[in-house]
Amino acid sequence: MELVFVTNNPGKFKEIDNLLGDKFRLKSLKDLNFNDNIPETCPTIEENATAKAFYIYNRLSVDCFADDTGLEVEALNNEPGVFSARYAELDGAKIFASRQEVTKANIEKLLKMLEDKHSRKARFRTVISLVLGGEESLFEGVVDGEIINEVRGNEGFGYDPVFVPIGYNRTFAEMNLDEKNRISHRAIAFRKLVEYLNQLHL
Ligand code: IMP
Repeated sequence: MELVFVTNNPGKFKEIDNLLGDKFRLKSLKDLNFNDNIPETCPTIEENATAKAFYIYNRLSVDCFADDTGLEVEALNNEPGVFSARYAELDGAKIFASRQEVTKANIEKLLKMLEDKHSRKARFRTVISLVLGGEESLFEGVVDGEIINEVRGNEGFGYDPVFVPIGYNRTFAEMNLDEKNRISHRAIAFRKLVEYLNQLHL
């Protein structure tokens, strides 16, 4: 069965392709020559995942799934959440030259916002929207942890250098990819998706 992963991120594509059995032929947007910039402007992580999956389903009529992730910080009313990728940009018309600059500014803002807060509790949350024949199923993956007050480690991306998962004393950025992938929010949500797909009688 052919299934489209609505992503432009080759790393994510490879990760899930490795998890899926022979029953599924995973296609990327690139494989379909689909180059639209898919809007990610919904107010919640769930709605963003749903909107991305249906954006493709409604145009191409293909079975597909899309994911969306956010960092939810307890003392900040679960912000940056759906705005995680552009947290620093929300403050005004700042122009960042590179993704690294955006990431650095996002982390600086997060640490500043937490300066006078007692709780450092946070969680990463991934939601996947799967659309098969127009019917949607949602899968969630959560990893709880805390935001430390310094930047540690060079692996990973995004907020990894300030996030320490519960039960560990290293940040996600101090773990290699295999180790992070065993426990991460995205891995948990993807495993639920794969389990669901594998039990379908196709
Ligand atoms: P996306 O929905 O996977 O594109 O994630 C949105 C944003 O959340 C990213 O741009 C990152 O800022 C943040 N994020 C998502 N997953 C991770 C992760 O595993 N580590 C650190 N930051 C992440």
